[in-house]
Amino acid sequence: MSYPYQIKSLKEYQEAYKESVENPEAFWGNVAESFTWKKKWDKVLEWNFKEPSIKWFQGGKLNITENCIDRHLETNADTPAIIWEPNNPEDHYRVLTYRELHHKVMQFANVLKNNGVKKGHRVCIYMGMVPELAIAALACARIGAVHSVIFGGFSAQSIADRINDAQATVVVTSDGSFRGNKVVPLKETIDDALMSCPSVKRVIVSTHTRTPVSMIKGRDCWWEDEIKIVETDGNPYCPAEEMDAEDLLFILYTSGSTGKPKGVVHTVAGYLIWTTYTFVNVFQYQPGQVHFCTADIGWITGHSYLLYGPLAAGATTLMFEGVPTYPNASRLWDIVDNYKVNILYTAPTAIRSLMGFGLEPLVGKKLTSLKVLGTVGEPINEEAWNWYNEHIGKNRCPIVDTWWQTETGGVLISNIAGVTPSKPSYATWPLPGVVPALVDETGKELEGNDVSGNLVIKQPWPGILRTTYGDHERMRQTYFSTYDNQYFTGDGCYRDENAMYRITGRVDDVLNVSGHRIGTAEVENAINMHAGVIESAVVGYPHAIKGQGIYAYVMYNGRSNNEPELTRQDILATVTRLIGPIAKPDKIQFVSGLPKTRSGKIMRRILRKIAEGEINNIGDTSTLLDPLIVEEIKHNRL
Ligand code: WT7
Repeated sequence: MSYPYQIKSLKEYQEAYKESVENPEAFWGNVAESFTWKKKWDKVLEWNFKEPSIKWFQGGKLNITENCIDRHLETNADTPAIIWEPNNPEDHYRVLTYRELHHKVMQFANVLKNNGVKKGHRVCIYMGMVPELAIAALACARIGAVHSVIFGGFSAQSIADRINDAQATVVVTSDGSFRGNKVVPLKETIDDALMSCPSVKRVIVSTHTRTPVSMIKGRDCWWEDEIKIVETDGNPYCPAEEMDAEDLLFILYTSGSTGKPKGVVHTVAGYLIWTTYTFVNVFQYQPGQVHFCTADIGWITGHSYLLYGPLAAGATTLMFEGVPTYPNASRLWDIVDNYKVNILYTAPTAIRSLMGFGLEPLVGKKLTSLKVLGTVGEPINEEAWNWYNEHIGKNRCPIVDTWWQTETGGVLISNIAGVTPSKPSYATWPLPGVVPALVDETGKELEGNDVSGNLVIKQPWPGILRTTYGDHERMRQTYFSTYDNQYFTGDGCYRDENAMYRITGRVDDVLNVSGHRIGTAEVENAINMHAGVIESAVVGYPHAIKGQGIYAYVMYNGRSNNEPELTRQDILATVTRLIGPIAKPDKIQFVSGLPKTRSGKIMRRILRKIAEGEINNIGDTSTLLDPLIVEEIKHNRL
C-alpha cells in the first residue's frame, strides 16, 4: 500500500495546506483517487452552513469495507489486520489477517441478512473490546446497515434511549466482557434495556465470558449458531453493497449541553477519506507498522483510529480488551514490547494515571519499537507531556497532540509526527482542509496572533458530521446557529505568536471526565430523578487524573436527611442506573439552596468557582436573589 497523499516535509505541509484551502475540490478530488470506488463522483463538494447541508463526492458509489479489507487482499492478504490482546495476559491473543477478517466479516454480514437486516436498517452493537465488535461493525457496513456502537459502560436506560432514537431492529452483544478484575454482564443489561425497546426484533449474542444469560425464544440467538447456519449454507461470499457517497455509515451518540445525547451521523465516503488521510499523515504510518490505539470502539477515537482509518490504510491495528492497570501498571508497556508497537495513541488521563505509579512499572521495559506517540481527548498538561516524552518516547518519538471531536470524524488540529513542530500542550496547526478561527462572544473574528476566543471552523472538511439523527434542526441549532456560517466547536482556544492553537477546554456546559464527554444537564436530570432531591446543579472542577471531576450541589429533603453518606451513595446508585458509572459525581455537597438570579437562573459561574476552590474570587453576587446562600455553600465546600 502506498500513500501518495502522505506529507513528508514542512514544505509539503505548507503546500498541501494552501492548496486544500484555496481549491478544496481539486485537492480532495485528488486524494479520493487513492481509494476504491464502484463509480467515481460527479461533484467533489457542495455545501452551505446555513441549512446546513454538506455533501462530499456526490454521485460516487463505494463500500467502505472494500476499502478497508478487499483492496488489501491482492498484495497483503496475510498481513495482520487486527491483533487482539485479551484482558488476562495469560489467555491467548488472536491475530486476524486481512484474509481472515474478510472471511469473518462476510460470514457475519450473511448472519445479519439471515436475521432480516437490510440496507439502511440500524443495528445497535453493545460489546466489549473483542474482535467480534470490529467484525460486527464492518459486517453492517458491508451490507449497508447503519451501526450504532454503544460503549459497554452505559446503563440499560442509556442504551434504551439510544436504541429508541435510532429505531434499531437488531442488537449485537456478548454474554459479558472482561475489564480488569471485573466481568461486565452485557447481555443482562441489554435485557433490561429491551423491556422498553419495541423496535428490536433480534438479539445476536456472542459467547465470551460464559456468564449465564437468559435467551428469549424467538428474539435471542447465539452468534456461533448463526455462523454455523451460514457455513452449512455453503457460500461464505457476501458482496459489498453499493453505497452512495453520502449514505449513512454510522450513528454515534454524544453528550451536549442539553439533557439528551445526540446521534452524530457520519457518511461513507467523506468519513473514509478523512480518517485514512489523517491517520496516514498525523501518525506518519508506514506499511508494516503496528498501531496501538487504546480507546474503546464505543467512542469516536476507536471508530476512526482503531478501526476504519488503520484498516483503510492496510495497517495492523492492535485491539486491547483490558485496562492499562491490570494486572499491574506495566500492562501497556508489556503490550508495546510483546507486539513491537510502533505507534501508541492514548489519552492524557491514562498517562497521568500511569505517571502516578512512578518508574517502577517501566523497569526492564524496552519500548524501543515505538516511533510515534499520540494523545487525544482533553488538554494535556505539560507535566504529563514531559513524562510521556521522556519515559515512554525516550526523547526520540514525536508526540502528536490531536484535537478533534465526535462530530469532526477525525483529527482537525495536530502536529504531523516528525514533520511539523510540536509544542507541549498545543495541538499546534490545522491539518490540510481545516480553516480554524477564533471569535469573541459577539461572533467577531479575532485577527492576528496571541489571542484567545471561541474556536470555530469556517469550511467543511470531508469528515464533518452531516446531521444529528432524526433531528436535523438540532444539528443546525447546536453547531451552526451560534455564529453565522461557521461550525462552532464548543471549545475555547488560544492562538500563540506562531499561529499555533492551544485548546483550553469546553466553553459550554459539557464536562470532559477522563476524556469522556458528559453533559452537566444529563447528570442533573439523573440526580433530580432521585426521590427526595429538590434541585441540583453540576459543574466541573480540576481533577489530578481525570482532568475534570464532577461536582454536584444537591438540595435534598428526603427520608434519610440525617444520613448524608447513605444519601450520597443512593444518589450515586441512581446516576449509575440512569446513565452509567462514568457519570457518577466525584463530590456531592448538600445545600439548602442554589445561587439564582432574580429571574431564577442558576449562577453556575459562582458554583464553578467554589468547586475550583477559588472562594475569594467569586465576583459580583449582587444580582443574586439570596446572596447569603453563597456564604453557606462556600463554608461547607468539599
Ligand atoms: C472534546 C471532544 C475526539 C476524540 C475524543 C474526544 C476535547 C479532544 C483534545 C486535545 C484538548 C481535546 C475538546 C473537544 N479534546 N481532543 N487534543 N486537546 N482538548 O471526543 O468525546 O467528542 O470530545 O474533547 O474539548 O471538544 P469527544
